[in-house]
Amino acid sequence: MTSAFPVKWRANPRAHAVRLSETVSAMFPPGISRQVRSFHRQLPGYKISPLKGLPTLAAMLGLGGIWVKDESQRLALRSFKILGGSYAIYQVVKSMLGVEQEIPFAELTSDDVRRKLGDITFAAATDGNHGRGVAWAASAMHFRSVIYVHKFTSQARIDSIASCGAEVRIVDGTYDDAVLQANADAQANGWQVISDTSWEGYEDIPRWVMQGYSTMLSETQEQLAGQGIVKPTHLFVQAGVGALAASVIGFYHQLFGENDPLSVVVEPDKAACLYRSVEIGDGQPHSFAGDLDTIMAGLACGDPSPVAWKVLWDCADVFLSCPDYVAAKGMRVYGVPLSGDPFIVSGESGAVTLGALMFIMERPELAELREKLQLDRTSQILLVNSEGNTDPNHFRRIVWDGADPVPHEYRGAK
Ligand SMILES: Cc1ncc(COP(=O)(O)O)c(C=O)c1O
Repeated sequence: MTSAFPVKWRANPRAHAVRLSETVSAMFPPGISRQVRSFHRQLPGYKISPLKGLPTLAAMLGLGGIWVKDESQRLALRSFKILGGSYAIYQVVKSMLGVEQEIPFAELTSDDVRRKLGDITFAAATDGNHGRGVAWAASAMHFRSVIYVHKFTSQARIDSIASCGAEVRIVDGTYDDAVLQANADAQANGWQVISDTSWEGYEDIPRWVMQGYSTMLSETQEQLAGQGIVKPTHLFVQAGVGALAASVIGFYHQLFGENDPLSVVVEPDKAACLYRSVEIGDGQPHSFAGDLDTIMAGLACGDPSPVAWKVLWDCADVFLSCPDYVAAKGMRVYGVPLSGDPFIVSGESGAVTLGALMFIMERPELAELREKLQLDRTSQILLVNSEGNTDPNHFRRIVWDGADPVPHEYRGAK
């Protein structure tokens, strides 16, 4: 389904025809999220990130509850991404040591392990957050890292990657070009690539990255249980290459099978590769051409991760493509909450799902989608605030100066 309205959506014809996805079962084998969490628990500074309810906003929009897993302070890196990169590095180190069982973090950082492994350099391409996570985790385990960013990456993001101990290299191109360059240099120098996106023959590490994100989800399930909620009814997840969305949607599919929550994958309209893939509808991932020039830096990816795509093709219900002002609106609503709701710091990529939810609930042009998703006063929506203020200049430009305003004709409820 498409319309002339700038927020566009497509239903996935395949979703819910799959009762239990084999791809998901392979990604989340029994016990994996407990194993992942027991690794993260040992990282210096680990604590459970908050799950924040927005009851006043939910009531205003005609919903039962809005729950925000707030990753804006995760391990002081201001993004969930650290969970994936750190777990993938841990798995790589384990396989280099030829060890199957879990290794305590203290042992991992010991001189003995260092001696056995020698010098390892980890390389990653990033639009900011993944690279910072890899740099932080590599340096916590006393390894070197080289991080590749694209030419549109802001100085603030580059500086914060470098401050985690990495050498940062700037590639004259997009995120997808940075991925290619990181691979070429790694091959030439014998480095180990830690990528959140996959390609043929390179699937284990991206799968470990996706498994790594499950810590956020097992925490969420405990926090929801504390509120008397067995599961969310709806998942709204933002996507770049799709690894986060596949992890969130796959995790719930593995837990609840055909009774899993209804899910919406949200992308910028200038980098909507997953939306395009479902639009083409042949079951294959497709690229999105262009310079991917969106304010949602973390979502500016033109090529889906094939491993993530397989999960989304099996399980995601709806794909949404949004203009930048949807994210900007989400940031402002998080930052200036209704009375009784908590204040949340959310960056462009973090806030787009709240903006999208508001458009769906408020705009008559999206009534058909609202009905299809059965969004009403019984709905309990889970959102992930996937980043905090990761780019302070852009953050102030939007939240203080009102950049990227919602066009007059699309403001609020009609
Ligand atoms: C803040 C933030 N949110 C969401 C995403 C999307 O993750 P993925 O590329 O796995 O779809 C990213 C990716 O870098 C990100 O940085």
